[in-house]
Amino acid sequence: MRIVVIGGTGLIGSKVVRNLADHGHEAVAASPDSGVNTLTGEGLREVLEDADVVVDVSNSRAFDEKSATDFFTKATGNLLSYEKAAGVKHHVALSVVGTDRPNDIGYFHAKAAQEKLIRDSAMPYSIVHATQFFEFAKSIADSSTVGQEVHVPSALIQPMAADDVANAVARVAVGTPLNRILEIAGPEPFRFDEFVRMGLAAANDSRKVVADPQAPYFGALLSERALVPGDGASLGEVRFEDWLSQRALGATVTSGGRS
Ligand SMILES: NC(=O)c1ccc[n+]([C@@H]2O[C@H](COP(=O)([O-])OP(=O)(O)OC[C@H]3O[C@@H](n4cnc5c(N)ncnc54)[C@H](OP(=O)(O)O)[C@@H]3O)[C@@H](O)[C@H]2O)c1
Repeated sequence: MRIVVIGGTGLIGSKVVRNLADHGHEAVAASPDSGVNTLTGEGLREVLEDADVVVDVSNSRAFDEKSATDFFTKATGNLLSYEKAAGVKHHVALSVVGTDRPNDIGYFHAKAAQEKLIRDSAMPYSIVHATQFFEFAKSIADSSTVGQEVHVPSALIQPMAADDVANAVARVAVGTPLNRILEIAGPEPFRFDEFVRMGLAAANDSRKVVADPQAPYFGALLSERALVPGDGASLGEVRFEDWLSQRALGATVTSGGRS
């Protein structure tokens, strides 16, 4: 199959491209650097020629509601109309667990607008809702730091490895369109503070992590289960503790190699 991965140079996109190629598919990484820009339409006609499937794992550079909504609606609108003209048979998009529930998170509203465009198009589709990635424990801490303390919500979180996200997205891409949302999540839930504390400890970061029910996430207060999947979600294999140990091992090997 020829599968075009929009955002194929990003964290998830590069892993999806590798996974698909390893399984014998023609996987094409598309992004502004390779001359494909979903906001302007540049390069879309050419890259979608003979494509069977499009996987959209692109992301907005800014996460406020207006910027993200502008990005996802413009980019997805363009993409869907070029896909229709090219005869693409399956549109796969990656979104976030919780965007289809009542919430005050501006970025989630932007993703919901993207998903509505997909559902309302005539294109056969699959929407994968993933939980937060392990890779973002530190950036969550950085954006939640007040002085020397990290204030995070006291809600639950069920994060997952980017590798598990990419494997699930690639599996969906080569399957029959689901025409619905599939939820995927990590193997175990944590308290938000526990997740961030483990991530910082593994990086020898001494900041104190505090569970604070008033701490915002993407500018909004979270209810207890706002970020965790419902029953029937497909769970990833990689446990956070094992992922942290593997990363520590990788860091030791890398720094050992440099010295
Ligand atoms: N962060 C989370 O915890 C989480 C959880 C669930 C779902 N998600 C979703 O996962 C998706 C992928 O996230 P990620 O972290 O892998 O993103 P990322 O690493 O930031 O990669 C974004 C990709 O989009 C490309 N891109 C940006 N603007 C584009 C445009 N106008 N046309 C074509 N490509 C464009 C980028 O290309 P350049 O590098 O050339 O700019 C890059 O390849 C997002 O849609 C996000 O909503 C995230």
